[in-house]
Amino acid sequence: MPIVAEGNPSTVSLSLKNDRYTVLIGTDLIGSTADLVQLHTGIRSKTAAVVTDSNVGPLYAEKVMSSLRAAGITPHLIEVPAGEASKSVECVTDVSRKMLQAGLDRKSFLVALGGGVVGDLAGFAAAIFQRGIPCVQIPTTIVSQVDSSVGGKTGVNTPEGKNLLGAFHQPQLVLADVDTLSSLPDREFNEGFAEIIKHAAIRDEDLLDLVEKKDTIREHLVELVTRNVAIKAAVVEEDERETTGTRALLNFGHTIGHGIEAAGGYGRFLHGEAISLGLVAATRLSVGMSDLSEDEGKRIISCLELYDLPTKLEADVSNEDILSAMQRDKKFESGQIRFVLLDRTGNAFVSSDVTKQNLEEAITLLR
Ligand SMILES: NC(=O)c1ccc[n+]([C@@H]2O[C@H](COP(=O)([O-])OP(=O)(O)OC[C@H]3O[C@@H](n4cnc5c(N)ncnc54)[C@H](O)[C@@H]3O)[C@@H](O)[C@H]2O)c1
Ligand SMILES: [Zn+2]
Repeated sequence: MPIVAEGNPSTVSLSLKNDRYTVLIGTDLIGSTADLVQLHTGIRSKTAAVVTDSNVGPLYAEKVMSSLRAAGITPHLIEVPAGEASKSVECVTDVSRKMLQAGLDRKSFLVALGGGVVGDLAGFAAAIFQRGIPCVQIPTTIVSQVDSSVGGKTGVNTPEGKNLLGAFHQPQLVLADVDTLSSLPDREFNEGFAEIIKHAAIRDEDLLDLVEKKDTIREHLVELVTRNVAIKAAVVEEDERETTGTRALLNFGHTIGHGIEAAGGYGRFLHGEAISLGLVAATRLSVGMSDLSEDEGKRIISCLELYDLPTKLEADVSNEDILSAMQRDKKFESGQIRFVLLDRTGNAFVSSDVTKQNLEEAITLLR
């Protein structure tokens, strides 16, 4: 189990096969980046790349850069355009070449400052630059703080599909500064609650008590992120390389959700919005086919509504498009559907009993 210490900052410490690292969750952290790196990692490099995007860079890069400079480290800022399109091989090449041109070498380290796009892209660049250099993740969205910055999955998209090229490269430190969330647009802030509600559904029923305090949620962000990181860290510790099946439970809501995201042609729904619909469908299937009670199901769906996440599907996204997108998904292993269901809030399992017809009915019920 990860070691969790609540406070400000809170810490979650992961212990994996070959890596140990700490996730710090608190306020006012990024201005102390260099001190925290010194305190919590073995990194002693004097050169670093700070990779960020065009939205986050102007807001937060200077704080990180000046902290590094004050500690005698020379930082090189590399900014990529904001948006999923930057998760490409071309962009990894571009970032890596800029690092080489700046004179960075295998003793340097990389700081990934931004949401999941920057974390996945820059994490991958760190994994392959001179066969691997240390990476510090500074996630600045709810999604990246509660999910993508922890666990070591890095990578990019190709025209054939999402996340098809990548590497496991665990960070040496994660700094989740909840102050950065204050500049996040409401739609992106709310989107992150799809993954939070998913975490509660599969692992921690009591987390819903906190989620339900929406009016004051911004006062509880340190606790909220900490509890989610603790869940993600526990799952990653149990199944670091997605071989035992535990990590697959994080796909709750994602089979149908990914189908809806793809059928909407990406761009129509944010990932978390499509997953919200997938969570509604998977929750209803859990009530119909497993032991989840009606009331538990309603509670999960109400939580999604509370954060303005969609729970009803519009008519112009067809069942056929969703089903055919789902069949291209890697979770449809050799035609067999391995679908994550709940038997109660806080406990998930993989079922082989869900048929294509069940899925179609669940999608129809979303309308
Ligand atoms: N590696 C993993 O385990 C994992 C897990 C989940 C998701 N992901 C990946 O994460 C990506 C999605 O991440 P995301 O939702 O963070 O998207 P994102 O990185 O695109 O960020 C969303 C938007 O918010 C902006 N932004 C970021 N932080 C901001 C801030 N503090 N203030 C104002 N604007 C800010 C960004 O510039 C962007 O426009 C996807 O590519 C997904 O595949 C990876
Ligand atoms: Zn997701």
